[in-house]
Amino acid sequence: METGKTERLDPTARGLARAVGILGAGGRVAFPTETVYGLGADARNGAAVAGIYAAKGRPSFNPLIAHVADVAMARRYVVWSDLADRLAGAFWPGPLTLVLPLRPDAGISDLTTAGLDTLAVRVPAHPLAQALLRAFDGPLAAPSANPSGRISPTTAEHVLAGLDGRIEAVLMGGACGVGVESTILGLGAEPVLLRPGGLPVEALEAMLGAPLSTGGSADAPSSPGQLLSHYAPRAGLRLEAETARKGEVLLGFGPVAGEITLSASGDLHEAAAALFGALHELDARGASGIAVAPIPERGLGRAINDRLRRAAAPRDRDGTAGA
Ligand code: TXA
Ligand code: MG
Repeated sequence: METGKTERLDPTARGLARAVGILGAGGRVAFPTETVYGLGADARNGAAVAGIYAAKGRPSFNPLIAHVADVAMARRYVVWSDLADRLAGAFWPGPLTLVLPLRPDAGISDLTTAGLDTLAVRVPAHPLAQALLRAFDGPLAAPSANPSGRISPTTAEHVLAGLDGRIEAVLMGGACGVGVESTILGLGAEPVLLRPGGLPVEALEAMLGAPLSTGGSADAPSSPGQLLSHYAPRAGLRLEAETARKGEVLLGFGPVAGEITLSASGDLHEAAAALFGALHELDARGASGIAVAPIPERGLGRAINDRLRRAAAPRDRDGTAGA
């Protein structure tokens, strides 16, 4: 589709109808989910999905999550299992993505799966995302709505700051409540944690009754998007900092008060919801470095630390690897 002007769509029946029209014609619409804003296109339409990669400047080997309205819609596209059913019953809609075998008759574009024989599926909880998926009545491939390698957007304004003029429309919902991307669980022979995220790993382990293994590594990622350099602000990051050095701004947490503090009371949910907005804001101030207070490695702290470590990692040669 032609781009140029990005339409701002109100979160109303009229805005949703316009979004469905654009998606049906192969266009791209950014929409809020409870985790971060997604950049949606019809997961069955190769040209539409190519448009996502083009807008983001995303490496094409990186597969996308198919967003669906409910379990019934997920089952059209993946080979379902008892374990998937238990997990979906407990955690959907919500910030959990399941990677399952792709059904041969799914009709999903191989640009969505990047040629893999598995598909990542997720049922977002955000009411606007739910309304959009029900009205569209099909799977939406949707990576985070940011230029590849940059910080994920948690407001419509973040989306426009990165992609204005590069996509057809944005549904103007409010700020995302969870603030970090979904937890990704691979359901092969054994469940494998592919990415810590908005659903605490402890909740999954409690349900599975066993500790979760983590698949792959930064060198050989089992989830291709898990390249180390990712979620990068322009400023360099220094982690586990108690104070700022010369030229740095301090991102605080708990007892460490900063220019921006993720949660003064040490609440990890509050901190996750504030994380990307704080990085966007500190980055916009043009600081050369961001010093980050220590964050405990439990609950949503695992997802926060994962994103911070990626943001702190040295950039890839082209500076744009990642999702
Ligand atoms: O919360 C979220 O998950 C957000 C919102 C928009 O839903 N989406 C998101 O998408 O974070 P994205 O594209 O930024 O990250 C998707 C991750 C990537 O790391 C990708 O490699 C992995 O999911 N992934 C997708 N399909 C996969 C598959 N078949 N096997 C393994 N990993 C897969
Ligand atoms: Mg992303």
